[in-house]
Amino acid sequence: MIPKETIQNIIDTARIDEVVGDFVQLKRRGANMLGLCPFHNEKTPSFTVSPAKGIYKCFGCGKAGNAVNFIMDHEKYSYPEALRFLADKYNIEIEEQEPTPEEIAQDTEREGLFALNTFAQKYFSRILHESEEGKAVGLTYFKERGFREDIIRKFQLGFSASAWDAFTREALNSGYSEKYLITSGLTIKKDDRLYDRFRERVIFPIHNLTGKVIGFGGRTLSSDKNKPKYVNSPESEVYNKSKSLYGIWLARNAMVAKDNCLLVEGYTDVISLYQSGIENVVSSSGTSLTTDQIRLIHKFTRNITILYDGDPAGIKASFRGIDMILEQGLNVKVVLFPDGDDPDAFARKHRSVEVETFISENANDFIAFKTRLLLNETQGDPIKKAALIHEIIQTISLIPDPIIRPLYIRECAEIMDMDEQTLMHELNKQRRKKIVKGDKQDEELPEPEMVAPPASELPDISDASAQEKDIIRLLLLYGTENLSFKVRIEGGNPFKEEFEEVLVPVAQYICNDLRTNQITFDSEVYQFIFDAFAEGADSNALPEEKFFLMHADKRIADTAIDLITPRYELSPGWEEIRIYVPTETDDLENTIVRSLLSLIHRKLSILIYKNQQTMKVLDNTSEVWSDLLSRDIYYKRARNEINRRLGRILNG
Ligand code: GTP
Ligand code: MN
Repeated sequence: MIPKETIQNIIDTARIDEVVGDFVQLKRRGANMLGLCPFHNEKTPSFTVSPAKGIYKCFGCGKAGNAVNFIMDHEKYSYPEALRFLADKYNIEIEEQEPTPEEIAQDTEREGLFALNTFAQKYFSRILHESEEGKAVGLTYFKERGFREDIIRKFQLGFSASAWDAFTREALNSGYSEKYLITSGLTIKKDDRLYDRFRERVIFPIHNLTGKVIGFGGRTLSSDKNKPKYVNSPESEVYNKSKSLYGIWLARNAMVAKDNCLLVEGYTDVISLYQSGIENVVSSSGTSLTTDQIRLIHKFTRNITILYDGDPAGIKASFRGIDMILEQGLNVKVVLFPDGDDPDAFARKHRSVEVETFISENANDFIAFKTRLLLNETQGDPIKKAALIHEIIQTISLIPDPIIRPLYIRECAEIMDMDEQTLMHELNKQRRKKIVKGDKQDEELPEPEMVAPPASELPDISDASAQEKDIIRLLLLYGTENLSFKVRIEGGNPFKEEFEEVLVPVAQYICNDLRTNQITFDSEVYQFIFDAFAEGADSNALPEEKFFLMHADKRIADTAIDLITPRYELSPGWEEIRIYVPTETDDLENTIVRSLLSLIHRKLSILIYKNQQTMKVLDNTSEVWSDLLSRDIYYKRARNEINRRLGRILNG
């Protein structure tokens, strides 16, 4: 646990230009600094850093944040990891808060295991490269497989000698405890004797996201059918199989850069593709993918491409796992390698560019792929075809995005030569069933049974986000500025009207108005920002810009950054043209009143729409119905009033 004051100290100390400057070459441009965006490919710089505000924003891809966000985003660190990174950079000491005894025990075990695993990895590598047996057996094997020297070193491959307990003895002699040797699984104890789990195998160390060794896979070189081909470390405090992916520590940056993750079956597939220059590749090591592994991938990209070695049974066995990926909202493509080649074999037979081209040219969308594959098997049998439809629709029904589902329905209808409406009907049926079963908590109502309407026909009435956003933007930009009002002085000269000027902060004006009208925000983040201003207005202590920009909740910081950095700020000609363009600050009061009215107008429209929808399904003789009708009339009257005021403003 990092204490609050230390976090504040780190945030105050970290200079955005220095933090970004470690990764991006920045050039001064006026008050800002400019460079090539590290988050997307670009030739002309649109990545802007504002040292004054302590933030960065890319006008090309929209990425923005403060120093902590930059490190989180660039290095894919968690919030505490990023803080530690910055603390390290600025020599800020983190005095950890007193951990509990259980935490101490857990930490000691983790540290003990990490230390032992690192020792073991170094030992196995040394045996591979320096011992006679290692060179003759292990290194020769890797070389015969075509692994280059630099790749063998990069993946930290090793060899465990044929003696029963060579490693265990070495570790004990170096002071590692028997306890950790056994919990790590490196050593097995049987009949009170200790021996090496990975004896006489080549070693593939398994790393976590940050490159620490968490476990090992060992492949036998013997052809003895009784020996398992691979032996793996058991789970431990540091190794959770279902949460790790082989190769992820080397693939993470390429996954972001390519916005894609290639998923293969084995250790050697990862290594061979990596050697071919295809670095965004990971493996779930022969087991089917878990939700945690999908989440891990999702940190870096939303696109997964699964590489198959063309064995139909294996492919079909993987379908369930893929359903899980779709269910998490990721996009899945599949590539089938020819003649039963696995990616490893294919990469060895072809040049790098050929491999890359093959993958990109043969990536099929998963749902279309599955449809074709199963359709092939039905051979015109109508019963089989009905089962196929059911299965495909089942898969489509898992996709969380309601815009994408109908697109797949259309595509599958085409492939199967079926009526789109029929498939849509089946989809709705299955989704309703799922909702009734209740395995979807966050589910909206089932969509109406129809083919997707074009976007232009969708009612836009249900959404006030643009209006909400505008108000929050005004609060952030001008919240602390004052509006001036002329107020008649009561009890003054009875023969002459006298006025005095009263200053009201913008925030107070906006917050009072919206609270009087009982307006709340749909967006949690906007509501948070609004509440902060409302409380500040009440207590005469409006929040500073920094409070939002540096907020620990990234959604809040991102939103604030996005809203206070208008796109035109960068345009060099802006100073010259601004004189011709009336800007919102020229008449701030007018701008604010207009935005307030627009928000209230939209909120009323939504109320009216929802109210009418409810009325449609109710019996018009019921008491509730007449209540709704009087509300309808009331809302519409209020909306007319707003229309009138808006019209007056817009027409001067
Ligand atoms: P090579 O045969 O050397 O090309 O290895 P490979 O990595 O291609 O192995 P294969 O395609 O047979 O299996 C894919 C993955 O499944 C491997 O990388 C292992 O992670 C896992 N695996 C294969 N065989 C075994 C086994 O006997 N036991 C365990 N636990 N895992 C295995
Ligand atoms: Mn293989």
